[in-house]
Amino acid sequence: MTASPSERICVVVGRTRHKMVQAEIKEAARRGARLIEVRLDFLAKAPDFKRLLADKPCALMATVRRPPDGGRWGGTEAARQTLLRQAVVGGFDWVDVETDVADVIRRFGRVKRVVSYHNMHEVPGNLEKIHERMCAQDADVVKLAVRAQQPEDNLRVLRLVKDAPTPTIAFCMGDLSMPSRILGLKYGSPFTYGAFNPERGIAPGLPSFDELKHIYHVDSITADTQIYGVIGDPVAHSLSPLIHNAMFHSQRLNAVYVPFRVPRGQLEGFLKHFDAFGVRGYSVTIPHKEQAAVLADMREASVTLTQAANTLLRLGGGFAAYNTDYTAAIQSLLANMPPGADGAPPTLSSRVALVLGAGGAARAVAHALHREGAMVNISNRTPERAQRLAEEVGCRAIDWAARHSVLCDILVNCTSVGMHPNVDETPLHHSFLKPGLVVMDIVYTPETTLLIREARGRGCHVVTGVDMFVRQAAAQFKLFIGREASLEYMRTVLRRALSPVSLKGPEELRK
Ligand code: ATR
Repeated sequence: MTASPSERICVVVGRTRHKMVQAEIKEAARRGARLIEVRLDFLAKAPDFKRLLADKPCALMATVRRPPDGGRWGGTEAARQTLLRQAVVGGFDWVDVETDVADVIRRFGRVKRVVSYHNMHEVPGNLEKIHERMCAQDADVVKLAVRAQQPEDNLRVLRLVKDAPTPTIAFCMGDLSMPSRILGLKYGSPFTYGAFNPERGIAPGLPSFDELKHIYHVDSITADTQIYGVIGDPVAHSLSPLIHNAMFHSQRLNAVYVPFRVPRGQLEGFLKHFDAFGVRGYSVTIPHKEQAAVLADMREASVTLTQAANTLLRLGGGFAAYNTDYTAAIQSLLANMPPGADGAPPTLSSRVALVLGAGGAARAVAHALHREGAMVNISNRTPERAQRLAEEVGCRAIDWAARHSVLCDILVNCTSVGMHPNVDETPLHHSFLKPGLVVMDIVYTPETTLLIREARGRGCHVVTGVDMFVRQAAAQFKLFIGREASLEYMRTVLRRALSPVSLKGPEELRK
């Protein structure tokens, strides 16, 4: 089966062996690539154009990058320029020439030219001047790739794209880069770059072709696409883009959800600078939840109570703050608890709950349970944190060593114990898990933690972290779009991403 074509992604192939380059070109084309950049500087042997261009399944671009520009070319500059000239006449459809050699390597026939500029260290002060000069260098496409130092650098490069006299692709490299790589398409970039094989370390922050095509659906981005995103640090491997973009796509909304890495302490500046984008709504994660609550112009009751927000929604010139973790915790519990003895809907009122942990997640859960009328006990490895949270909520702190002696109806694990890769750990001895106990784990990597497995085995009612994650995301979707999200669909998307074959590193799975 041939995949739908990707007209807006230039797929980068960089391998040392011709055989692998050929194989990747073929496979990328089968998956929908229409333009592939062949990084000739990666080849261990002299490029054999006959082999590379034989049975070309789509347009190919030749690039021979020097080390200062992020490439691996090991030969002389004269030999490199000769190779570029050969590529121009040798059957490639596109050739990438750096701005400093663009005037000496001329256009030929119908071969298209990318005139490129790379700066692996910074965003130079004269970037706009450099761009202006490049636009006069007979380019079909001007490309600027610079190393971002701060989130606002994304804005600076996108401004170049917007009013460019020559079609321009300008993006940041590094871990701050995703907004510019994706949003450039909204502002007029003809395409963006994606690695066929992200493990090859082709360029810092270069996303994979599959990610751009199947998570961000970049082929559907137009000038009218609405922007949403998640703000956090780290954020690169957040699962929120996966789940929100899947919902946007399934409901045929012209919207994209982007990860914004914003270092601690920079939230206020970020929100101000990115106002120009008119971002409709943000998910907020570590370490900005408290600051988001402070900076908002309006706070929902759950935010006032927990002093933390995980959602910001544009409201006139500012933002309204919500805490969908809070509501999701209650909904997850109620949806999975058995009905009362008389068949009445379950309630949390007067139930005894034991919350393990005293971090941000425990804070939302403990406040929510308390508000619902439950009698809450908090136990944490560091007792002072448990004490502080218990005082804040108005409930009881229990010594970590004494946690097994609490008689309760509901247990919620808000510690990170049991999270990938420490999947053999559990925060409680299994003898604590009695039939009928409600056990909720907020850890969702893996979904079936040891605690969940043991609880299930001992006849408890279990609520997994996937349930809570999906519900908080669904509540955000409702705030963003005003429509209900399908919990079932979100669960399926998340479970597919969390399946053992997709599991990578622990830091890659944070929300
Ligand atoms: P979050 O905001 O996601 O809740 P956090 O603030 O880092 O993240 O909280 C992590 C929680 O897991 C804390 O309650 C932490 O206990 P400490 O306050 O003692 O650090 C708890 N935690 C992490 N590792 C733990 C372990 N090995 N045993 C027990 N508790 C652990």
